[in-house]
Parts: sequence; structure tokens; C-alpha cells
Amino acid sequence: FSAFLTDSFGRQHNYLRISLTEKCNLRCQYCMPEEGVQLTPKSELLTAQEIITLARLFVKEGVEKIRLTGGEPLIRPDVVDIVGQLYKLEGLKTIAVTTNGINLARLLPRLKEAGLNAINISLDTLVPAKFEFIVRRKGFHKVMEGIHKATELGYRPVKVNCVVMRGFNEDELLGFVDFTKDLPLDVRFIEYMPFDGNKWNFKKMVSYKEMLDTIKQRWPELEKLPCETSSTAKSYKVPHFQGQISFITSMSEHFCGSCNRLRITADGNLKVCLFGNSEVSLRDHLRSGASEEELVQIIGAAVGRKKKQHAGMFNISQMKNRPMILIEPALMSF
Ligand code: GTP
Ligand code: 5AD
Ligand code: SF4
Repeated sequence: FSAFLTDSFGRQHNYLRISLTEKCNLRCQYCMPEEGVQLTPKSELLTAQEIITLARLFVKEGVEKIRLTGGEPLIRPDVVDIVGQLYKLEGLKTIAVTTNGINLARLLPRLKEAGLNAINISLDTLVPAKFEFIVRRKGFHKVMEGIHKATELGYRPVKVNCVVMRGFNEDELLGFVDFTKDLPLDVRFIEYMPFDGNKWNFKKMVSYKEMLDTIKQRWPELEKLPCETSSTAKSYKVPHFQGQISFITSMSEHFCGSCNRLRITADGNLKVCLFGNSEVSLRDHLRSGASEEELVQIIGAAVGRKKKQHAGMFNISQMKNRPMILIEPALMSF
């Protein structure tokens, strides 16, 4: 594996997340302030060509999986073209997308044709009125349609990301478990994380342990599934259900030790950790004509500075970071 993508703790970074846009067609309460965020001028965002140039370089050094994120990646007009160009990169095994699902049903046939092979969809509630409250927009049925379309087109599993927030949806855990009965889904319950502007409140976080206790009371026969290395999720299944459930324990049991991710923001900064604030502008180096060797050196140096783990659940909430939407849509990673 490339020495450039291996950090000083021996972690090999073979998974790259690329944000295609900072814009989003929703305004989730935990991700964005109501008024939106100050967007980077278009000229400062990576072009499709720059994205492909960088992706080619990372794949050459050993990246095997690229996830397109946002904002909402499916509002970028050239997303199908970007997927198609990524598909041509030799050595890239998985092209994935994390989407809010609004445009999914409409675009999926073309995305699949272009080579998209994995889909994660965010959905925090199964109640339409609560959906409109949390995302501050309409669209529940579009998201459901997207989830069904993905299963119909053969995606396995279709991952559904559910951020669990006390007082909002912790009473829907069992409903989401039932959602996996007849559909090949992996519903992933995510511990709520702190980001600038999301008014993080420790009391709103529901821990993995608490969620598991609630679910086991109803489903004592819940089976633990073997976990994939470097996966952020711990998975379980109700016997005889088609799908499964998982927990993403970002706060209570971080997974920094096996982190294999790097990310590129829509404005072209390399972020070696979701919760880190040291960034290097690959865009500026690209635009000033850096050679491939120089870019690889710059990336290697940033990976070499990656810290062992994030600061811990109390410290990160105080830390200066971008709002989630400016890292990724809703997300990030330590
Ligand atoms: P898979 O590749 O399918 O395993 O998806 P993923 O979990 O890597 O990505 P997704 O975009 O679906 O993100 C789901 C959740 O994973 C986010 O809400 C975060 O809680 C968490 N996550 C994703 N990337 C990172 C990361 O780099 N660090 C940390 N700590 N959490 C992350
Ligand atoms: N805490 C946990 N998960 C979050 N996401 C966005 N903001 C947060 C947060 N503060 C989730 C989104 C999406 C994924 C990429 O990250 O719901 O599914
Ligand atoms: Fe948009 Fe995702 Fe943020 Fe919601 S969480 S506002 S869907 S980027």
C-alpha cells in the first residue's frame, strides 16, 4: 500500500469522500442554520475535471472506494458525468453516494448506468410531519420513493442513515427496525454529533447502549453480525427479517483506530479527519500547476500529520470546525 496514504499510526487510507457541493435542497436542523450558510463562490469550487484528476491520483496510490457527498451531491448538474468518469478509473472498486434521497428516484437509473454501486440515504423519521419539521422542507414521499427505487434496482443493502435525537425520534427505533422486515435495508442508527451551529446538546445524544437496550427489550433474539474492518457500524439482525440494523457510535465508542478515510471538501481542501481543522488546499496546488509528484508529496505530508484520534465527545463540541454542511452534508468524520 502507498506510503503516502499511510499515516504515522499505520492506518492505510483507501477510502476517499469527495464533497461535490456545499448546497443542499433541505435544511436539516442539526446540519445547517435555517438561513443557510455562506457558500463558497463557484469559481473556488472544484470542477468535474479537477475532481477526476484528484481522484485518479488517489486511486493510483491505493484508494479503492470513493463516496460522493455534499451538501447534497445529487443537486450537482454534472453528477452523472462525474460517476461515469470515476467508473473508468482502474483500481476503483466502489463508487458510493450519500444522499438525502430527494432527487434519487429520478436520477438513479442514470447513476446506475454510469456505474454507481452503493447508496446511503438519510432519513431520520418515518412520520411525514416530523420529517418536515426536522428538514424544514417537504419531500418525505420523494425520499421513500428513492429508497424503494434503490431496492428495486438491485442495490444491496440500501443503507438508511437515521440520526437519533432525544425528544425527536428516539421513540421510532422500533418502527425503523420493522422497516427492515420486508426490505433489504441496513438502517443505521447514528449517535448525534457536535458541529458548529448545530447547538449540540449532550442531552440530545442517545447512546448506542441505550438504543440497543430498547431494541433488545422488543427483540431479545437480536443477532450480532460479524463486522467489517474499518466499518463505522456495528450490525445486528432480527432473525428472518430481510434487512438489518446497525449503530454508528461516533460519540460513545469512536472508531478512529481503524479510520481509513480522507475527505476533500467542495472547495478542494483535503481534510484528514472529520473533526480536525487542519486542511490543505489541493485546488490551489492544482491551479498553480503542481505536478502529480508534488501533489502526492503534499497529500502524503498531510496524511502524515493525522492525529491518533479526535478530542473526545466533550472537547469536540467546543472545537472550531466548519458547520457540517461545509464539510459534507450532513456529515463528516473525525
Ligand atoms: P459506508 O461507507 O457505507 O460504511 O458509509 P459511511 O458510514 O462511511 O458514510 P455515511 O456517509 O453514510 O455516513 C454515516 C455516518 O457515519 C455519519 O453520520 C457519521 O456519523 C459517520 N461517519 C462517516 N464518516 C466518518 C468519519 O470519517 N469519521 C467519523 N467519526 N464518523 C464518520
Ligand atoms: N450528527 C450525526 N450525524 C449527522 N449527520 C449530519 N449531521 C449529523 C450530526 N450532527 C448525518 C446525516 C447523513 C450523514 C452523512 O451524516 O444524517 O446521513
Ligand atoms: Fe442537507 Fe444532509 Fe445537511 Fe440535511 S443533513 S441539510 S440533507 S446536507
